[in-house]
Amino acid sequence: MTKKIFFGTNLKMYKNIKETTEYLKTLSQLTKDISRDNMELFVIPSYTSLCSAAQSTDKQFITLGAQNMCWEEKGTFTGEISPLMLQEMGIGLVMIGHSERRHVLRETDDEENRKVKCALNHGMTALLCVGETAKEKDYKISDEVIRTQLKIGLHDIPGSQLSRLWIAYEPVWAIGESGTPASSEYAEEKHQTIKNCLTELFGEAGSQIPVLYGGSVNPDNAVSLISQPSVDGLFTGRSAWDASVFNSLIRKTVYIKSGSCI
Ligand code: PGA
Repeated sequence: MTKKIFFGTNLKMYKNIKETTEYLKTLSQLTKDISRDNMELFVIPSYTSLCSAAQSTDKQFITLGAQNMCWEEKGTFTGEISPLMLQEMGIGLVMIGHSERRHVLRETDDEENRKVKCALNHGMTALLCVGETAKEKDYKISDEVIRTQLKIGLHDIPGSQLSRLWIAYEPVWAIGESGTPASSEYAEEKHQTIKNCLTELFGEAGSQIPVLYGGSVNPDNAVSLISQPSVDGLFTGRSAWDASVFNSLIRKTVYIKSGSCI
């Protein structure tokens, strides 16, 4: 069976509506010959671009997601976005607990758990991000931190919803301009920690949950990262924001697990 590789990007607080729709159009064009049996391609734009993006993007080629979501459908939550509002735009994927939400906006594991549950209960796919800070790595508690984020973030999730759960491992020290990418050996070691924890939580079904690596993924390190047995996909920031660079990164790596060539 072909192994599907996950490729995604979070546009963070970059790209306005026009830039987002143009980016998506170019990315669709450039990648449309690659069979979606071989890959799942997703883009997570800003909220303000999401509606236009949803109207102009062919979902057969690119899945769109939201960067965050409230754990309630409606109520006194000024500034928040409800799962129903996302679904109204046809959005079925939501990222939860990105490192900037956790460390800049101070979200807790308990909040991430409420959001994951809410997304799954609404039939959406939840992409839960986990990862340790540089300090936690120095203290040599990376595994404990990752396992805690998973155990709290995924608390009380029924096995029947696991097919709509994706995990991204994004060490905080690896993300952004000042980040150092994790070596592929380190990424593999932590992906194994994650997969073991998911199996511990959910049994055999846990081992089927895709685990993506993120944090300074670029065209130079992508091949070696995706070649690791426990890395199921690449979650890319800066190196994906130019559609042609993202396209070449995808083409370099998409058939690595299946052994065929493009
Ligand atoms: P980066 O971002 O690839 O620019 O380091 C990764 C992320 O924040 O998801």
